[in-house]
Amino acid sequence: MLEIKRQKNAVILAHNYQVPEIQDIADFVGDSLGLSYRAKEARADIILFCGVHFMAETAKIVNPGRKVLIPDMAAGCSLSDSCPAEALGAFLERHREKNYYVVAYINCSAAVKALSDVICTSGNAVKIVGRVPEGREILFVPDRNLGEWVQAQAGRPMRLWEGDCYVHVEFTHQSILAARERHPGAPVVAHPECTRAVRMLADEICSTEKMVSFCREHPARAFVIATEGGMLHRLRKEIPGKEFIAGPTDKCACAECKYMKMNTLEKVRDALLSGGPEILLPGALRERALVPIERMLEWSQN
Ligand code: 13P
Ligand code: SF4
Repeated sequence: MLEIKRQKNAVILAHNYQVPEIQDIADFVGDSLGLSYRAKEARADIILFCGVHFMAETAKIVNPGRKVLIPDMAAGCSLSDSCPAEALGAFLERHREKNYYVVAYINCSAAVKALSDVICTSGNAVKIVGRVPEGREILFVPDRNLGEWVQAQAGRPMRLWEGDCYVHVEFTHQSILAARERHPGAPVVAHPECTRAVRMLADEICSTEKMVSFCREHPARAFVIATEGGMLHRLRKEIPGKEFIAGPTDKCACAECKYMKMNTLEKVRDALLSGGPEILLPGALRERALVPIERMLEWSQN
């Protein structure tokens, strides 16, 4: 695999939720924010993006000169699907007098990004919302849970789109409370896409990347991790001396995103060999979607 990658002059970017064997061959493994920076900087002929569709699409938007591949084109995202561009466009039209400043979580389509003023990720959302010009009413799309958390952190009221992630809403107050009781002393680390009932039990609420630094620096020896199960591989690999316990849901011991898990090592190899499936975007849409992403990258750094 590494030889094919070298021959094709490809770079493999993988999200923290990918299966362990993909994470292990990737050039970079990270959260949505880190992956966006890596995609922008990539100089290889091919970016093979092992994540879900909106992530690979973002890579194409920020670095259109590269060929961007995804192992499985059907790897979508329930959160992105909960805010179709037509519905957002109609909403903004209906509420034209509000002149909403649209902050879109990166888990959305290029067409939704094109209708937005600025993009954010779970890693920079509080900072981004804090920089929205005073006096503008904010519409936050598509995740109501992340939006609710950000609004409290940033102290800025926002109108929230009613979308959610089907994986993170599976954690419940009861399931995480039970994990706390089974593992006394283990801090609970939760992704902000979790519901408020779960977030209120968490010792730390953060992006998948921040989970790594938080667990590394915290003196505890064991942690309950309330996010998609792929995260545990990265944590166990990079912090081998500590124990990571998957946050359970009411239905299963470890939450899994069926979209993230559509990518397999075989599909990665096939994509490298065949040069597809490829992410393609109309130029005008790409240019419009780039504006709020560039704004995010700039605000996030300064
Ligand atoms: P991160 O940016 O924190 O990795 O989150 C991405 C995601 O899809 C969470 O479900
Ligand atoms: Fe989308 Fe949820 Fe899967 Fe993340 S975990 S990609 S938000 S469906």
